[in-house]
Parts: sequence; C-alpha cells; structure tokens
Amino acid sequence: MIVLDQENRVFTLHTQNTTYQMKADRHNVLLHTYYGPRLAGGDLSYLIRYADRACAPNPAEAGLDRTYSLDTLPQEYSTCGVGDFRLPSLELELPGGSCSADLRYVRCELRGGKYALEGLPAFHGSRADAETLVITLEDAAAQAEVELYYGVFEGYDLITRAVRVVNRGGQALRLRRCDSLCLDLLRSDLDLITFDGCHMMERAPDRAPLRSGVQGVGSARGTSSHQHNPFVILCDRDANEDYGLCYGAALLYSGSFQALAEGSQYDNTRLVMGINPLQFCWTLEPGQSFTAPEGALVCSPSGLGQLSRQLHRAIRERLIRDPYEGKRRPVLINNWEATYFDFDADKLVDFAKTAAPLGIELLVMDDGWFGKRNDDNSGLGDWVVNEEKLPGGLEALVPRIQELGMSFGIWIEPEMVSEDSQLYREHPDWALHIPGRSPARGRNQLVLDFSRPEVRQHVYGQIKAVLSSAGISYVKWDMNRSLSDVWSAALPPQRQGEVCHRYVLGVYEMLEQMRRDFPHILIEGCAGGGGRFDAGMLYYTPQIWCSDNTDAIDRLRIQYGTSFCYPVSAVGAHVSTSPNEENGRLTPLETRGTVAMAGTFGYELDPRKVSPQEQELMKEQAAFFKEHYDLIQRGDYYRLSDPFAGGPYTAWEQVSADRREALVSLVSTSLRAAPPFQTLRLKGLDPALTYQVNGGEAYPGDVLMSAGFPLPLLRGDYQSMQLYLRAI
Ligand code: GLA
Repeated sequence: MIVLDQENRVFTLHTQNTTYQMKADRHNVLLHTYYGPRLAGGDLSYLIRYADRACAPNPAEAGLDRTYSLDTLPQEYSTCGVGDFRLPSLELELPGGSCSADLRYVRCELRGGKYALEGLPAFHGSRADAETLVITLEDAAAQAEVELYYGVFEGYDLITRAVRVVNRGGQALRLRRCDSLCLDLLRSDLDLITFDGCHMMERAPDRAPLRSGVQGVGSARGTSSHQHNPFVILCDRDANEDYGLCYGAALLYSGSFQALAEGSQYDNTRLVMGINPLQFCWTLEPGQSFTAPEGALVCSPSGLGQLSRQLHRAIRERLIRDPYEGKRRPVLINNWEATYFDFDADKLVDFAKTAAPLGIELLVMDDGWFGKRNDDNSGLGDWVVNEEKLPGGLEALVPRIQELGMSFGIWIEPEMVSEDSQLYREHPDWALHIPGRSPARGRNQLVLDFSRPEVRQHVYGQIKAVLSSAGISYVKWDMNRSLSDVWSAALPPQRQGEVCHRYVLGVYEMLEQMRRDFPHILIEGCAGGGGRFDAGMLYYTPQIWCSDNTDAIDRLRIQYGTSFCYPVSAVGAHVSTSPNEENGRLTPLETRGTVAMAGTFGYELDPRKVSPQEQELMKEQAAFFKEHYDLIQRGDYYRLSDPFAGGPYTAWEQVSADRREALVSLVSTSLRAAPPFQTLRLKGLDPALTYQVNGGEAYPGDVLMSAGFPLPLLRGDYQSMQLYLRAI
C-alpha cells in the first residue's frame, strides 16, 4: 500500500511486513526517513536529527542554518559536487564541463499495477498485487528531470526501484553515473554480506562488519561475473538464519555493476547499486532519456532465512516468466561432460535409448554440433549444423530422439566468434576490438559487438533457422568469456562509454525476440557455468547453469551461497560422473542425486557407462524428483547448516506452503570414527502436526523443530539422506 501525505509531502510504502518512507523537506530535498519492520505510518522525519557539523557544506537555500547539510542527511537518491561527499548515485556532466547533480522534489504520481521498463528486465505485477509510485526530481541547472520509480508488491514484501533521467534542456548532457538504487540508513552497526568466488566456485558468502569508508563489490567484465554477484545483504551484526533485521538488494542487470556500501562519519550507512561507472558514459541529447536497470529491495525483520524465502517467492512468481508455468519442467540429460566435442547423431540416439527408460525426458546436445567445431578453437559464429556429425541435420536427428519419447534441446553461444570461422573471415570488424590493438582472446574466442543491431540480426537469423528446423524445446544460451577491448566501430568517440551497456541491452533484446518467436522453448542461461547468474537474466532464462563445477561436495557450498537470493527452480544442477571430472572426488550416486535436487535436477554423464544397479537408482531418483516436484521447486527453502562452517554435514529443507509436507536433505561432509550422535533440528513445520518420515516412524512437528530428528550414524565418505515428511 502506498500512502501519500501530499500536505507534508511524506511518501510511505507499506508491504505486509515492512515500511519504507521518504519525505520532501522544506528545501525540496527528498530525504529517506525509514526502511524496516512495518509501522503504522505517520511522518517519521523526526528520526532525522540536525547539528552544526564542521566541513559539512550548507546549500544556499539553508541560508545561515548550519545544521542543514546534504552531507549529513539521509538522501533518497544521492547527488555529487554540491555538498554531499558520500557515495553519489548520479553524476551529470553539464554542457559547461562540470560534473555534479543537485536534485529537488517536483511532483509525485501514484499508478495502479507495476511499471515496466522497455528493453530491460523487471518484476511484473498486476493491479491486484502491485502499485507504482513515481517521484520526479529536478536538477534546475542541468535542466534534467530524474524520475524515481517504486514498485510496491505488498504480498511479497518487495520494493523495486528504477531511475529515468530525462534531458529537458537544449544541449547534450552526459551521464557519468546513474545508479539504480540508493539506501541511506541512520545506523552503521551492520554487517555487509557479498557473494564472491571464481569460475567453478561461485557465490561464497563473505560477511564482514561494515567499516568506516567505502567497501563493496562489482564487475568490470561486461557480465555480472563469477567473481561477485549483483546481490548484497546488510544485516544486524548478530543476525542469523532465524533472527535479526536484514536488508537484501538485488540488481536486475547482467553486465558490469557496482554495489558499494559506505560507513560514514556520523555512523550512517549508504548503499548504492547500479551499472559500474567504470567504462560508462552515456550522452543524452535534448529530449532523450536514460533508464537505469531495476533494483529490488527486501527487508526481513526475522533473519536471513526469511529474507531468502521472500526473494525466492518474488523471483519465482513475479520475475521469472516460465514457459512451463504451472507445469513441471523436464528432467534432462546433457552430453557435455560425457562426450565433450566427440559425438555424432548415432551416439546421441544411443544416449536417448538408454536415458528414456530411466525417466529422463529431454536430451540436450551441447557444444560442437555446428560449423567446424571439434574443439574450442574454431566455429563460433557459424550456426549451421555440421552434417558430418549430424547427417541430414536436426530434421533427421530430432525425430529419432522424439520417437524414443524424449524431447530435444540445443546449446548456443550467440555472443561469440572464433577467428577461425566464416563469420569472422567475412566481418572481422564485428568483434569488439580497439583500433590499433589486437584484442585479447578468452578461450581462444572474441566477443561480437552485440551493441550493433546488424550483428545481432545476422547471428539471430542463423539461430532462428536452426530452432525452426526441428522440434526444439530447450536452449542453453552460453557465454564463455569476459568482455575486453571494448570499442565499437559503430559509435563515435564520445559514445564509446555506451558500448558495454548497449551490449547488455542487445543481449536482452535477442533473448526477448527468441522468447517471442519460440514461446514454448525453455532457455537456460549459462556463462562458463555461473558467470552471469543474476536476477536480470532470470527474467529471460528461468534457470541458469549454476557452475561448471558439478562435484556434489563443492556444489553444497556453491548452491548454499546461491540460495541466499535465488530460488531452487533457478539453479541448474546435474548429476555427473564419479570421480568428478574437475576435482577427481568420489561421491556416491545417491549423494549426487540429493545435491542436484537442490536445483533443477538432471544428468550430465554417459548413461551407457552406468552399471545396471546405478541405472536402477537413476530411475528411482527421476521418479522421486517428479513425484515431489512442487515441494522441491516451489516449497519454502530452509538452510539448516552452513557448509563453510566445517561441521559434519550440510543439510537443507523444503517445506510445502500448507506445511503438510517437507523434504530434508543431508550430506555428510566429514567422517570420523566414534562419531557423536547428531540431532537435526528442522524448521518451518507445523508444531501441531505429526509427520511420518519416509513412510515409517512418525514424530510431532514441535519435537522435530525443538528437539530435532535423531540422525542415524552414517558410514562411508559423503553419504547422504533424504527424509520425506508427510503430515498424518
Ligand atoms: C561452458 C558451459 C559448459 C559447456 C561448455 C561448452 O563451459 O558452462 O556447461 O556448455 O561451455 O563449451
């Protein structure tokens, strides 16, 4: 619910459990007064206090009032160059060459439903579940208007934000920075949690007390990156899974980003998040506007677990547009780790022959089916079926797979080009490169200039022909290197700072086009595994390959970190072979299945090389996953332990909305002789109900939560358990 107090110019956004408030003050500055647990309302600006602080400049309107300074007051959207020395959200280069921004409140507008952003991902909501507030600010000297958009999803405890800058003057302006969100809090005794890592070990939580000064993460790679995720948490120092005030901020953006927090001199906190200003500069001609990507805020008064569950629900129901909406997505098998580039039509048909009777429903043909591509040194850009491997093309192969009762999916990497390709030989200038420099190679490939429409059209034309040639129901959209040598032959020198963002917009445009042309196709995102795992991509690709690391034990950590923001249904996870291809670790098939069921669940191995006993187990796993699909994919997710804490096991739990069913998964991670007895305390159950576990013993919900479930002693490395609980 949005409450506008026009007289006092107080704007209050209520969700079910949270309240967010701003006020345009006597100098027309938009101050942030509160974000936290839900309050009745009223004007909360008395929480802001004023004092004469040295070295804190006073704007001209304040006259001789030395207690009024932009540098000390909580700003709703921070400026620069005019007296606030903390992190700016906006930086404008004026026609005279100065860089600054100075914003004053002009008007506000309430709209039913949720605003949309053209060409950008955004949460969607109808009049029934969302409202929009637009607050317009003005920079008089720059002759620019800044519209702050707020989407309020009451039932989801979600507030989305976006920013649009309009040049209302007669001369060009340059945007040097335009963040998506700014959050000023009147305290700094908080922890900052970021999600960091590298290729194969993505999104490990990194938690540290907020220090004085600026700290944070970002990416300058043109993608959201394996290294840092565009999602951060600020929380009480003693917040844990079940306790404490926590704020989550996610950016719906798949390119270079920045998320910075500043502990400022009078113990306040500022969080800003948006496009990375490094390599960004956008020219706004008179009348033109620029829209910053959407940011999303959630606040949980009761711990990190609740924060995640709020985000999961919002992302699942109000961001992801799933072609399988309301239906189950298929259990897939992907040939990558089983064959790499060494496959042909007959081998794929053999895969399907073995996999179909096991209950696997979709065969995904990974890299190597097109152009001249027998290793990763050539062929990207030539999206034409290699008929030496697949005689007769997909028209011949796909029906053979379908006859076996399976559907068919395909891998693509549209944004890339190999120098050894027909595309590159014909259009070398289509690859990003800086004139006079030889571009750096990554995986021996170059990046196509997706800021250029003709490049996108050419690539999409080829891919569309392939997707139209046969019954394809799934696409894995990959992207295997970071952007370097960023320069576009299509833009003048003063617009080169637009290339990275235009590139991302180009990717979004092609994804949207593919969704429009092939609405039944499930697109899985991928970027060398989890290098572009962000809320922006999830708008187009309902699931994302979480990591190239398929080792079940490493995955416990990767999926744990990922779960802080992203729902199970978004996490691409497969059972692969043991010993694992990447780290050589041996794990039981049961355990690999249990871990893959904390994600979309599928296989990535040669089913023909699996023993009959293991095939039987695969069959059981697929059947179990299908039977409990709703619980696993849509249930409330509880982290029961932290795999980074070095405990004896890692456990998690999914609970159905009506709390009558739950699935508890546990993987033992450190083995010792003479083990102590362990008891696992469950969460989210109904204390008044009694639950039967795996069809056997029954236990009261309150006992399972307060005393716990008595775990059996596990023998052998990396054993796992799944406990299916049903209320009786
Ligand atoms: C990336 C992906 C893998 C696989 C290969 C193919 O590394 O993450 O899953 O598709 O590319 O080249």
